[in-house]
Amino acid sequence: MQDLDAIVSEALALFAGIDDADQLEQAKARYLGKSGALTELLKGLGKLPSAERPAMGSRINAAKDKLETALKAQREKIQHRKLETKLAEEALDVTLPGRGLGLGGLHPVTRTMERIEALYRSLGFEVADGPEIETDYYNFTALNQPENHPARSMHDTFYLEDGKHLLRTHTSPIQIRYMENHRPPIKIIAPGRVYRVDSDATHSPMFHQVEGLWIDERITFADLKGVLVDFLKRFFERDDLKVRFRPSFFPFTEPSAEIDMSFGDGWLEMGGAGMVHPNVLRNVNIDPEQYQGFAFGLGPDRLTMLRYGVNDLRLFFENDLRFLKQFS
Ligand code: DAH
Repeated sequence: MQDLDAIVSEALALFAGIDDADQLEQAKARYLGKSGALTELLKGLGKLPSAERPAMGSRINAAKDKLETALKAQREKIQHRKLETKLAEEALDVTLPGRGLGLGGLHPVTRTMERIEALYRSLGFEVADGPEIETDYYNFTALNQPENHPARSMHDTFYLEDGKHLLRTHTSPIQIRYMENHRPPIKIIAPGRVYRVDSDATHSPMFHQVEGLWIDERITFADLKGVLVDFLKRFFERDDLKVRFRPSFFPFTEPSAEIDMSFGDGWLEMGGAGMVHPNVLRNVNIDPEQYQGFAFGLGPDRLTMLRYGVNDLRLFFENDLRFLKQFS
């Protein structure tokens, strides 16, 4: 049967040249489909003399098997090639130079905060925390800061729209919150962000403070001086540093002082301090006859400016990497 062999070899050649799965199925139909070439031959079997039928039948079936096998192999080949193309498209060239991950660094003020914490921890102070959104009571009233105190005015303080809350103007409310939950001896520092309506080269509407508080039975102004002078000398790594206490006023301390540090030919203010006012202790049910102590508030932004020689506070909060990179 010349015909059958010709059909088979034609089909095999056709299949082998196809590299698309759909086209392959269409090609299959041309031979094995309802009116495909082999199918037609099978249909014609009935017209053959009965003696030739079995031999012819089995030849056609063998041809069918051959085509099916070839189709199967070709399908696998197509699929394999598809996978290879996909893999090649997704391949990474591992020899290309990397894009590089920018190395992060600590913000200069964060560095200062960590340094302050380490120095005070070495003197036995714990680190406490408090909310940045405060109530009038913790920010002012409990700190012996009366209704008519100028710091309460809209001019200095960011009030929330509910009229009940404000952004804390200092870290001093943490003193109250801590003393409400702890009994003396109390020995803490409390670093954090504070907010005031203020903006120029040395003032930012958001800035940092570190509060200090030490309450026990025999804490005196001498302890306050000792702790702060020691801290400033160690912070700036300068034994010859001069520190000056200037009489001042804060509602929550009595007596109160401002702490200045020698700088060039002059003095620079580094913070406020004083002996905790008896009213403040009474507000948290600590007996001022039995316990006393000191508090202080330092400006870590200021400390950072001095330590690194930065002359504009706003640079710290503009997130300009060219500036910040110099510290990491
Ligand atoms: N809270 C004061 C302020 O922001 C700073 C301060 C002064 C804190 C004296 C103190 C202190 O604890 O004793 O201006």
